[in-house]
Amino acid sequence: MTTDFATLRKRLHIISGTVMGLFILGHFSNHALGLVSVEAMEAMRRGLHVIWRSYLGTVLLYGALLTHFCVALESLYRRRTLRMPWSEAIKIGLGLALPFLLVGHVVGVRVEMAISGYEVDYPDVLRGLWSDSFASSRQSVALVVAWVHGCLGFWFFLRGKSWFKQYALLIYSFALLLPILSILGFVSSARLVVAMPPYDVLFVAPRADATLMGNIRSYFYFGFATLIGGTFLLRALPSKERVRITYPDGRVATVNAGFSVLEASRAIGMPHLSICGGRGRCSTCRVRVTEGLEGQPHAGSKERATLERIGAPFNVRLACQLYPRSDLTVSPVLMAGHAIAKEAPLATDAAGHERKVAVLFCDLRDFTRLTEDRLPFDTVYLLNRYFDMVGSAVEKSGGVIDKFIGDGALAIFGLENRLDEACAQALRASALIGEGMVALNRSFHGELQQPLRIAMGMHAGSAIVGRIGYGPASELTVVGNTINLASRLESVAKEFDAELAVSAELVDRTGRAMEGHARHGITIRGRASLMETWIVNKAADLAAEDASPAKS
Ligand code: FES
Repeated sequence: MTTDFATLRKRLHIISGTVMGLFILGHFSNHALGLVSVEAMEAMRRGLHVIWRSYLGTVLLYGALLTHFCVALESLYRRRTLRMPWSEAIKIGLGLALPFLLVGHVVGVRVEMAISGYEVDYPDVLRGLWSDSFASSRQSVALVVAWVHGCLGFWFFLRGKSWFKQYALLIYSFALLLPILSILGFVSSARLVVAMPPYDVLFVAPRADATLMGNIRSYFYFGFATLIGGTFLLRALPSKERVRITYPDGRVATVNAGFSVLEASRAIGMPHLSICGGRGRCSTCRVRVTEGLEGQPHAGSKERATLERIGAPFNVRLACQLYPRSDLTVSPVLMAGHAIAKEAPLATDAAGHERKVAVLFCDLRDFTRLTEDRLPFDTVYLLNRYFDMVGSAVEKSGGVIDKFIGDGALAIFGLENRLDEACAQALRASALIGEGMVALNRSFHGELQQPLRIAMGMHAGSAIVGRIGYGPASELTVVGNTINLASRLESVAKEFDAELAVSAELVDRTGRAMEGHARHGITIRGRASLMETWIVNKAADLAAEDASPAKS
């Protein structure tokens, strides 16, 4: 129930923010038209008024404003701690300042019209603001504050999207340029208007009483101040419903019911990995509930999907999605025994972002047995030759080595390019590695009791790219189910005594014909359907087939 409410709250926040974002976008573009002419500004204003001053537009806009404000106050009240990243603090601070900056303008142009029928036109507004330097400065500040608040809101929402990085420069440039053009448009048109005779085409009624308008403004200021102040006051009051969350090191977080386990961890300064920022997608915040699981709210659809994806046992829950109703004992899965992520979650990279990538896992088979009777120096030499070969095959194909683990390696493709291209690169790399193994075995001929053998697994899909680790030992890496599946396919290659097991999903994206290779449905733990997989006995064969025509 609580989880569903959290989802509803997030949706309302995003939808209302989008409605207001559209309004501000139109408003800013309208101001920017001042660089063309006052007539163009006025024409656009009338066009926008048809939308926003219609019955539906008014309900939509003011409904969104009210919803956004209420949701913001509710989440402010709900927060267990006001400790937060600076970008979030700025966003909240600016959002709370906005009502006070905008009341004068809104009452002047909207409330007055509703009371007296007097419609303020652009020249009226420009003349009024230009003659009052305090009002014009406040209005400019309000514009910038509204814009920065909105931009930060959308940045929080969009930064995790796979396409965001690709268009980031374009989006940032637009975000910077529009308010500048808007203010320039305002200044240039205001200068023109004060030099013009009064422009009173839209004058339809006498203006409302100034004292009345002043009183209305005061009521609004008082109302907003009371609501915001009241929220902080309510936060300070101890709640009757408190829950205790106990951690493996004996620390206890006592929080109001309605707070997530992740928020509880943060409240007591407990390091807790959360790469997707609490959106229930990365699973890195998961905890094993060792006591008190009964009676807790069931996992919502988002949490269930993430837990099923990783095949989590029944007592594992996502800390960011679990809002305990009663006391419980938890053990963070990705922190047990490690000092992991003490600082990382607050670093820029640690926020992580989702990307579609192709992943290649490779591993030397029977390597330990193979090197049992060799000197350590020989083993190191052999491993370095092998890693050299794998590293250069991956780099030549356009990928990067994420890490070497023992005698295995993890390579990623698609950090900077499209997924289809990344899949083709991964296939090319596996072919080069296959060829490299043939060459390595040739050069070690007679040195080893048996040739070196490799097993590779490849899959493509979404992964979280982020900085993980502790202090200097942290590194940029990828995590997620795609990585787990590629690793599982590497084991499948061993089971089939083949060099490569690659998901059909990856191959389909390249359009490569796989004639001559076998296709199998593989059972994967936590996955309802079989995973269609191509088994390639000799990866070097793929290089020979490279010249074969692609499917259209
Ligand atoms: S922080 Fe990503 S799932 Fe909870």
